[in-house]
Amino acid sequence: MSSQVDQIKEEVEAKLIPIYVMGKQYMVPESLTIMKAIEYAGYKYIRGCGCRGGVCGACATVYRKPGEYKIRTGLACQTVVESEMYLTQLPFYPANRATYEFDNLEGVPEEIFQLYPELFRCVACNACSKVCPMDVEVMDYIAALKRGDIAEASRISFDCIQCGLCASRCMGELPQYHIAQLARRITGAYLTPSAEHLKTMVANIEAGRYTKGLDELKAADTENLRNLYTEREMEPATAGEDWSPQSDAYL
Ligand code: FES
Repeated sequence: MSSQVDQIKEEVEAKLIPIYVMGKQYMVPESLTIMKAIEYAGYKYIRGCGCRGGVCGACATVYRKPGEYKIRTGLACQTVVESEMYLTQLPFYPANRATYEFDNLEGVPEEIFQLYPELFRCVACNACSKVCPMDVEVMDYIAALKRGDIAEASRISFDCIQCGLCASRCMGELPQYHIAQLARRITGAYLTPSAEHLKTMVANIEAGRYTKGLDELKAADTENLRNLYTEREMEPATAGEDWSPQSDAYL
């Protein structure tokens, strides 16, 4: 029995690899993400960690591997550790963020040019695209914005998670991710056709169409709510676009 335990111990130990966190060596299991490895090493996240699922952009990490000139980047919650990696996290990178009242904007390119004149400091070196952990073609959306094509910049930057790594490598000192966020806001508010069904729904809400039903739900006890939930008419998995429930009381 004890030899079995020793064997397991040996296997576990065999899976430990060295990594360097802010210059200090730690032995960590090789299957862990950087985030878990840092926790395994005894650090506690207070900042620099959010969703743990690769969508919030809080855990940007910079690392280098021995014998390589190259700086690598990744999300700590998604990137698996590698032996001998030297890493540190960049949970925040100071970058200029313009102040504006969004409702006062007209949604034209000139406003972006005025709010972010550094847009034209881009020298098209593409360091921003290379460093992006989401493989966003950052330089391309900056180029689109310089042409005044806000919609195209929004499309290209759609997967941006605002980690700020692009700004950290930019020799023109652009805050690319903030500029792209403004572009997407403008696209959503001014350039995308508004949805008719949404307008209808908002009008229905304002006219009080759902007030009675909502009041009934709020007054219901747990048992009633459970019954309402389990007995609700559900959309079949194979329903087509034209499916609608038999009762239109809540439509
Ligand atoms: S913690 Fe949210 S992207 Fe890593």
